[in-house]
Amino acid sequence: MTRIALVTGANRGIGFEVCRQLALQGVQVILTSRNVAKGQAAADVLRNEGLEVTSHQLDVTDVESVMALQEEIDATFGRLDILINNAGVYLDEGVSIFDVSLEAMRLTQEVNFFGPFHLCRAFVPMMRLKDYGRIVNVSSGYGAMVDMGARTAAYRISKLALNALTRIVADEVKGYNIKVNAMCPGWVSTDMGGPAAPRTVDEGAEAITWLATLPDDGPTGGFFRDHQPIPW
Ligand SMILES: NC(=O)c1ccc[n+]([C@@H]2O[C@H](COP(=O)([O-])OP(=O)(O)OC[C@H]3O[C@@H](n4cnc5c(N)ncnc54)[C@H](OP(=O)(O)O)[C@@H]3O)[C@@H](O)[C@H]2O)c1
Repeated sequence: MTRIALVTGANRGIGFEVCRQLALQGVQVILTSRNVAKGQAAADVLRNEGLEVTSHQLDVTDVESVMALQEEIDATFGRLDILINNAGVYLDEGVSIFDVSLEAMRLTQEVNFFGPFHLCRAFVPMMRLKDYGRIVNVSSGYGAMVDMGARTAAYRISKLALNALTRIVADEVKGYNIKVNAMCPGWVSTDMGGPAAPRTVDEGAEAITWLATLPDDGPTGGFFRDHQPIPW
């Protein structure tokens, strides 16, 4: 059976590469982006490589459009097997918590936490009905309590909340064949990571693809980097 995957923030960066890697494994990929033209252009690149990828507009902060997409996927496929919560913003790099604007603090939580929250609430019920699901929350070491420290508070808090969401959802779906994991891709050379980052998007995406295609006896409720559990 062909698996169906939805990837958020997939017009560029790590999300785009995850779409390529999943499609190369025979997964039917729905590449989503907040800008419709950018999503179509990205999907065209992958289709020109012979991959089965469709695109759909999705701003993860817009709960109504999340629900509309859920209804469309339900009508078209009757299920969603893989959800990659990848879309993210990084607006307060190095900024003190005393200087970060309220707007940046709020927007960061809207995208990095509320986005995955809306998507989990929209799609987990379908996964329960089919007793199958793989959810990957693309987090960051910045969200780990063990390394919590000064600066970059908006981003850190958003990823900390995403990690909590991971544990909560994983526990709520206990007993189902649904795996919910958070991961850190490492420092990856994208628009967000910058050109000095040592990892390629290919390397950053690889562990996401691994968690997205876990076998039935794979881990759930974990936080990973390089396929290894890391402390929360
Ligand atoms: N790069 C790193 O070193 C690194 C390290 C740790 C964790 N991460 C995490 O990895 C994920 C991907 O990062 P990246 O490096 O690939 O970043 P990126 O190149 O900046 O790409 C971010 C993606 O998120 C999308 N996005 C932003 N706001 C959105 C919204 N409201 N709705 C839907 N999509 C939205 C962007 O769309 P637009 O093109 O429209 O802006 C873009 O497609 C993020 O969650 C990030 O926190 C990255």
